[in-house]
Amino acid sequence: MGYDVEKVRQDFPLLAGSKPPIYFDNACITLRPRQVIDKVNEYYEEYPACAGRSVHRLSRRVDEEVYKARRLVQRFIHAKKEEEVIFQRNATEAINLVARSFPFRKGDVILVSDKEHNSNLLPWQVVAEKKGLALDVIHSNDDNTFSLDTLKDQLARYGSRVAMVAVGHTANLDGVTVPARDIIKHAHRVGAKVLLDAAQSIPHQAVNARTLDADYLAFSGHKMLGPSGIGVLYGQEKSLQALDVNNVGGETVQDATYERATWEGLPHRFEAGLQHYAGILGLGTAVEYLQRAGLKHVYHHEQLLNQSLHDGLRELPGVSFIGPEDARLRGGITSFNIGGLSGHDVASMLSASKDIMIRSGAHCVHAWFNKHGINGSARASLYLYNTEEEVSSFVEEVKGVARLGKRRRKR
Ligand code: ALA
Repeated sequence: MGYDVEKVRQDFPLLAGSKPPIYFDNACITLRPRQVIDKVNEYYEEYPACAGRSVHRLSRRVDEEVYKARRLVQRFIHAKKEEEVIFQRNATEAINLVARSFPFRKGDVILVSDKEHNSNLLPWQVVAEKKGLALDVIHSNDDNTFSLDTLKDQLARYGSRVAMVAVGHTANLDGVTVPARDIIKHAHRVGAKVLLDAAQSIPHQAVNARTLDADYLAFSGHKMLGPSGIGVLYGQEKSLQALDVNNVGGETVQDATYERATWEGLPHRFEAGLQHYAGILGLGTAVEYLQRAGLKHVYHHEQLLNQSLHDGLRELPGVSFIGPEDARLRGGITSFNIGGLSGHDVASMLSASKDIMIRSGAHCVHAWFNKHGINGSARASLYLYNTEEEVSSFVEEVKGVARLGKRRRKR
């Protein structure tokens, strides 16, 4: 059976109405299906209690539901054990946890790509400054794809000094996915750990933590149909055991005296205090939803739409793209500029004229835009509920905006 996008749309309250917006800002945050909203409400209405502490009926129900959600996430990413799934507020918090808690030694090297958004750059900058580490940048190829050769050169140059390679699996800037398996293989050869920021990959393509062999993966619920304020740090058991405990309090300890504490095992030692239970449950439901839809179909659907969108924009005067010209390398993201206009101009016009929502500006990748001397971009990012009709309306509307850009350039 083919992929039925109209059926999918019925699950999203915002799209099921008579005048739905065209929502192309999915790399920032996705819409949520009725099933996820219902699950969140179920928690608040039926068992709004704490987990892991009290022994009463409501609390035991929360325990069960949290356990179920953790298992769903574990299976979704093919983690070996459910304890390897740590709930955090979002990918940013997960990356900060690793950066703060990794046992770096003075003089260690951290490698990041030149396309990291702030969440996978600034935590490493801060820890490098604090602990006397070197932070080096893996520069991309001219077409903005990942340069494995550059990484190999850097690994050969620094050798076992490289303690961490932290790269975005799929870039929020231009949708390009890096060759993660190769990166991990080469990094492991010099004994480095690898953190993949998978916030833009896990929602869109099947990711198998075990075959990838990543040490750490970070991702956010709000980019994959789940609630805001919930995300995941996955880590291989030994890589998680290697982290110090920093964020401590209730639930992280087995016992404590006035002098010291004995830490809980995984995952609880990294989940301090009462948790976002409704968010955890909603994330479990989001994962079930994506599994039912089938990530293979989702990825294929987005690629087809992105190709049409690219083909439509390519013909317009003054349009340039960020990233490779071949749209197939950019998943469901098209980042573009129109000469004479800023990204914000383009996004505001589309919102005002046809209720089309895209993101504009630096997309939190300031370092890349500064390096290239480009003042941001407009970015359309697609998801499983978007349609060819929406893409056609988008292209039609951008045509008008491009004509305005042309007039501005002539002034
Ligand atoms: N990183 C998110 C984005 O690309 C916020 O929009």
